[in-house]
Amino acid sequence: MKQIDSVFLFIVFFIFLAVAGVAQKIPDFGIIPRPEVVEWNGQYSDVRNIQKGTIAFTPFEENMLAPFLSVDSKGDKQTAGFRYETDEKFDDEAYEIIISKNDIHIKGGSRKSIQYGLTSLAQMIRHHGFPLPEVRIYDKPYLSYRGMHLDVCRHFFTVEEVKKYLDYLAYYKYNHFHWHLTEDQGWRIEIKKYPKLQEIAAYRKETLIGHYSDKPHKFDGQKYGGYYTQDEVKEIVAYATERHIEVIPEIEMPGHALAALAAYPELGCSGGPYEVATKWGVFDDVFCPTENTFRFLEGVIDEVIDLFPYEYIHIGGDECPKTSWENSPVCQKIMLENGLKDAHELQSYFIKRMEKYINAKGRKIIGWDEILEGGLAPNATVMSWRGTEGGIAAAKQKHKVIMTPGSHCYFDYYQSESADEPVAIGGYTPLKKVYHWNPVPNVLNDEEKKYIWGGQANVWTEYIKTFSQVEYMAYARGMAMSEALWHTQKSYAEFLKKFVLHQEYWSGQGVKVANHIYEIKPVFESGDGKGVFIRFDDIPEGRKVSHVIGDRSESGDRFFLSEKGNHEFFVEGKSISKPLIISFNPHLATDAVIKTEPLPSPKYSGNGPGSIINGVMGSDNKYGGSEWLGFEGKDVKINLDWEKSKNISKVSLRFYKGEGQWIYLPRKAEMKIVGKNGLILKTVTTKDIQTDKKVATVVFEVDAKEVTSLQFFIQNYGIIPAGAQGSGHGAWLFVDEVVVE
Ligand code: ACM
Repeated sequence: MKQIDSVFLFIVFFIFLAVAGVAQKIPDFGIIPRPEVVEWNGQYSDVRNIQKGTIAFTPFEENMLAPFLSVDSKGDKQTAGFRYETDEKFDDEAYEIIISKNDIHIKGGSRKSIQYGLTSLAQMIRHHGFPLPEVRIYDKPYLSYRGMHLDVCRHFFTVEEVKKYLDYLAYYKYNHFHWHLTEDQGWRIEIKKYPKLQEIAAYRKETLIGHYSDKPHKFDGQKYGGYYTQDEVKEIVAYATERHIEVIPEIEMPGHALAALAAYPELGCSGGPYEVATKWGVFDDVFCPTENTFRFLEGVIDEVIDLFPYEYIHIGGDECPKTSWENSPVCQKIMLENGLKDAHELQSYFIKRMEKYINAKGRKIIGWDEILEGGLAPNATVMSWRGTEGGIAAAKQKHKVIMTPGSHCYFDYYQSESADEPVAIGGYTPLKKVYHWNPVPNVLNDEEKKYIWGGQANVWTEYIKTFSQVEYMAYARGMAMSEALWHTQKSYAEFLKKFVLHQEYWSGQGVKVANHIYEIKPVFESGDGKGVFIRFDDIPEGRKVSHVIGDRSESGDRFFLSEKGNHEFFVEGKSISKPLIISFNPHLATDAVIKTEPLPSPKYSGNGPGSIINGVMGSDNKYGGSEWLGFEGKDVKINLDWEKSKNISKVSLRFYKGEGQWIYLPRKAEMKIVGKNGLILKTVTTKDIQTDKKVATVVFEVDAKEVTSLQFFIQNYGIIPAGAQGSGHGAWLFVDEVVVE
């Protein structure tokens, strides 16, 4: 019925607009995520305060609305022109707000959706302000699982900080909090049956300084750790529940278990001794699938079940090297007894056993997509992080799926290409990319799509030491993600207008939300034999870009680069962009024609193959963005051709090394020179391509005349070895500037 009402009113409204000839965009009135339907009659309401109505506000709601509640002479909150009620005609998460001349009326299918309505109202008041428009808003989410995750193991956050995070989640209508509680680097939940988890597993003796890829590794020498007592866990769960957020605890198994093994070495296959990890990565020592381990984990799960009322428990399942199992006679015996043909089936056996235990207690499991390997546990929900493939496979097997692919959902990735960004794990996931994400893959048919429960952003904290850094990394992109999960009809331009208002609000609260929306992003055009052009697509309407090099300046939106040096670009008019400095070093390849075979992966394709001959060096610290090209698990051929031959004395290529991010130096790089001297072959192999840094440069000194073509063959590292992050996956190969002199 309400659907019919809403559709009817919407149509009537648009007929009115058409008749009136008003080509008007309906504003979102500051609400993130953008509501489904906003109908505005162009008038403004007289209502200037909010009353409580018959159902009490929760502290969260009271807090949001407090500045707008009026107080009478007796100190009571005034109650004029405002009411809300639940109405069973609405879905559980659907609500309606009607603001008329003298009244605000909210209806929702549940107390939860009333909170959503109140949140939208509070956002309108805060970010749009009085007078409020006379509107009807009808709203409901696109996806029913909308989650954010927080890793409290790599770095620990206080109860108050977790509560702040929950407030943020509620403000953007997230309904799940995935709390990553156990890891190699620390066990963070009190389990009364196993006190050594608190005494030993909760602390590491020191922590890695700088990035994992910077060698040699250095440590800070400071003991680090902490855990949540069961009372604190209950307090956080109650706080989340009051905000209609379900809390999913994650207890990692069988991998990422080193902290637990340090406390109880008998749970590992070698018997230890083990130490709580002091650096990041994947570790060979994992839970050994013995009866003793199952008894331990069942004891943990018993207490976890008592603390967390929600139906779902996450049991990890990711990144479990099989080395310790393969070397263990005990594991070989277990495999023989249970008819398991390999270590993947042993992992599947592990997960299925734990699922059975958890199901018997009336709860369900979620696992990372590795739980598909060796056979999926019968009732498991899959969280797809290594891309969307795992999620797609699980949906086809009729299992529920939460999409959280690294490419769009890892908020520990860089969000800007700017050189002054704080150190992050890697990658490049800017705001716009998050915004345009659709968690439901088109390759699924309508029936399969129903298994995509929703999506989630993950905040891993290896490089996030403080809660203020959590806010910096997560809050801007969390707003974009909230629209990606709530809506299919999105408008990035409208989102940006609201983003500025929300960002100002958070800033007023002392919260530093990343703001890269005024950075101008270059698009390079190169590699077609015509030299290097730079273009700016995303500049505000009606604006031009200024280009300054030395004494010369010009205005436009596309420029040819010729002079060596620092080129400065900025948006003309009111200074709304940081100037962009491009250091351009032309060389003999900048006017070559380039071909790569295969093409770079769409995940890391820069501005196409020409990116590696555009005279601009990719960062020494970041491989995402527009300079580096990434090739996944493949050997690569690169051809450079010139119409007019060149005399060449030196050629260099750069390769990125980030083994923690699955990026390996090549096994071999070969160069063939076609020129006047005939064909010259130059080869370098692994031992020549080593480095302690993140970038290795391979240099070929040559003396070649009238060269018309250079042909490179670069051999990929191959399969990532057991025990390393991404083990079993084909290594990534990252190449940047091929400098020819
Ligand atoms: C993960 O990022 N290892 C799930």
